[in-house]
Amino acid sequence: MDDFRLDEDAIRLTLERASALAPGCGEIDAALSRAAAGARLDVDDVAVLWYARTVDTDVLADLARRARGARVQQLETFSPLYLTNTCDATCRMCGMRRDNDALQRETAELDVVEAQLGTLLERGMQAVALLTGEYHAERRPWAMRYVNAALRAAERLGFHHVLVNVGSIEEHELPVLLDGIARRADGMLAGKVTMCTFQETYDRRTYGKFMGRDPENPRSDYDRRLTNFDRARRGGFRCANPGVLLGLSPDVAFEALAAILHVRHLLGAGMEVYLSTPRLRRVAGSGADGSITGRGVDDDDFVRLVALLSLALPDARLVLTTREPRDIQHRVAALVGVLSAGSSAVTPYTRHGARFPLDASQFEVIDQRPFEAILREHLDAGVAIENFRG
Ligand code: SAH
Ligand code: TRP
Ligand code: SF4
Repeated sequence: MDDFRLDEDAIRLTLERASALAPGCGEIDAALSRAAAGARLDVDDVAVLWYARTVDTDVLADLARRARGARVQQLETFSPLYLTNTCDATCRMCGMRRDNDALQRETAELDVVEAQLGTLLERGMQAVALLTGEYHAERRPWAMRYVNAALRAAERLGFHHVLVNVGSIEEHELPVLLDGIARRADGMLAGKVTMCTFQETYDRRTYGKFMGRDPENPRSDYDRRLTNFDRARRGGFRCANPGVLLGLSPDVAFEALAAILHVRHLLGAGMEVYLSTPRLRRVAGSGADGSITGRGVDDDDFVRLVALLSLALPDARLVLTTREPRDIQHRVAALVGVLSAGSSAVTPYTRHGARFPLDASQFEVIDQRPFEAILREHLDAGVAIENFRG
């Protein structure tokens, strides 16, 4: 299986055609009836329905809810655990970027990480995402061993699902990252371990603007980032979690189509796929030092995007986080597969809640209630929640 390549010109052509359609034309009705029949939408339909503003977002959300309801899913959950907020990259939108003087840097010792994992388990949380920055050549061996130690601890403690969100990994680094992690007979990882690297934006120009162009910066290489899941799969990962950070590029339709093509490539390669579409949030020190916070995606566009992705990707699981406020969580809960709650500060968990200090966090988390309270609302509504013992 070849590495993923994005045909940007083909997407732009599809979008141009779709955006030029007259309101109420036959293509829009045809796309709507396919959605109503529960068919998987293709990228042309998604483009058409994105621009067809005579069709209300709530109508699309209802269609998505019904299409999904027919397949009956349950919500899955996980909490993030930031091991450190250090980073050598300089992504403009991120609180952890190396040049953000407003951030208090912290790196947890392994015993603290283990205690945090224990706290999550005691609170019934059985799935966790491990997070770090991305590092220069000199610090990469340290980072791989550090994440490996946390991953081993999570596996030993019995977590059902561990996500690894630590930047893109080179082929020769994967054996270090996965050293001592159980394998199946075919060499693939035995436990459920997911590689997470959000492309943030599939538009190369916007990528350069935010992630930088300095070749010394590990994060600035668009193609290296794009092919990370293909390397991860060859190294034993069975699950992938790509993502788009909404608010970087104004062209949300382009991001939607690119993400759909990326997810389909990964599904085609036999991977289980999660797709994240977080919206940009405030970071410590933003505004005062020339950092870019982006222009944001409004609530209606956010819900429309999630509805269309849900209709186009019935075999992937969309991830919603507590970056979103409670009302948005409830508007899209029936369209997604995962609701993830927690803090983006370093090792923040306490017996009943979490710390949310902005000056030690990657970004501001909007819903700061304990995850038990957030998940309970969905349990009370009769939705089963995988990886949480409430
Ligand atoms: N250093 C790793 C970890 C990423 S953290 C890496 O870059 O791959 C997970 C995600 O948080 C990022 O991929 C990005 O999509 C998101 N993020 C970064 N800055 C953000 C902000 N200001 N608001 C909301 N999400 C943000
Ligand atoms: N930024 C990571 C992600 O989106 C970590 C994360 C998951 C997170 N769920 C969260 C951060 C909830 C804050 C709140 O995968
Ligand atoms: Fe570092 Fe990741 Fe933030 Fe970029 S997004 S600055 S790589 S932590």
